[in-house]
Amino acid sequence: TRQWLGVIEEYRDRLPVGDSTPVVTLREGGTPLVHSTRLSERTGCEVWLKLEGSNPTGSFKDRGMTVAISKALETRAEAVLCASTGNTSASAAAYAAKAGLTCGVVVPRGKIALGKLAQALVHGATVLQIDGSFDAALEVCQELARRYRVELVNSTNPHRIEGQKTGAFEVVDFLGRAPDVHVMPVGNAGNITAWWQGYREEAEVGRVDGLPVLRGYQAAGASPIVRGERVMEPTTIATAIRIGNPASWSRAVAAADESQGSIRSVTDRAILQAYRLLAGEGVFAEMASAASVAGLLDLADRAELSAGGTVVCVLTGNGLKDPDWAIAGAAPPRMLPPSVDAAAAHLGLERTAF
Ligand code: F0G
Repeated sequence: TRQWLGVIEEYRDRLPVGDSTPVVTLREGGTPLVHSTRLSERTGCEVWLKLEGSNPTGSFKDRGMTVAISKALETRAEAVLCASTGNTSASAAAYAAKAGLTCGVVVPRGKIALGKLAQALVHGATVLQIDGSFDAALEVCQELARRYRVELVNSTNPHRIEGQKTGAFEVVDFLGRAPDVHVMPVGNAGNITAWWQGYREEAEVGRVDGLPVLRGYQAAGASPIVRGERVMEPTTIATAIRIGNPASWSRAVAAADESQGSIRSVTDRAILQAYRLLAGEGVFAEMASAASVAGLLDLADRAELSAGGTVVCVLTGNGLKDPDWAIAGAAPPRMLPPSVDAAAAHLGLERTAF
């Protein structure tokens, strides 16, 4: 068997790279598409989970970052910069380290998952926390990129979108077609834009006949697109998508509309339930990722899914980045003496016949 080579080498002819582009890769992409028995039973569809948390830094951002950082190196940038709710900073820090570039990240006031912060720090990024929201952090970064010699690697950078569209290529490679419905969380709205571009390109080259209906989900307390206005103080337990003024707002709306789909919201309670449901089937995704499954269940409740249809839910990030919620919902481990009898009793084991 051969090793997966990362999205640039796997999809080189479909990405904006040339022979002189230095490839900065951690072998991202090639993530598992896992069939969910429980969600399939519950919805009457064939439900597939795209585990983007299996990327090298634990989120889908790596698909875009390999392209953005490679292009930054090609154009001789010395430093890269991003605003982030956590995952972008983790990915930017790792790829910048791989490339030997300086990396600065600006994160909002309030909680960013500890694992994500740890990643940015361990890879040597300079981390600044500002007394403001993600949206304010992004504005600061955009202005810095205008005034100083630094490359912005947020999803406003077109190379990020190019890389992230490869998720759609992989789904089509595996299913041999586009799904009927594609469900995903929406934060800054770059990723839904990217997936739509990926599916559309698959149609243009004749690899699929039909396109999926896109169903994007914001968290109810951070749902500017649903409300039709900027949210000044977004709040949600899904900190990755705690965003009040998405940079790719209009492109996300256009993608959802073109696909005959929608961008809606799900409550934190529904997100938490979906998170636990996924975990109960062996999949540890972060809270923001669970928004897509919460959305899927909402579609099922409203009877808006066609029976037997193929559904892909994108699980954008790894649950290990933010274990607090996993631990909060569970009983702490029992402390016992190192005794076989005590352990057997607590495990509820029965004696074998022999
Ligand atoms: N899921 C996760 C785990 C994320 O980290 C993000 C975005 C999204 C979904 C939403 O994707 O912004 O393209 O609509 N995280 C960004 C960050 C904002 O800074 O890490 P989007």
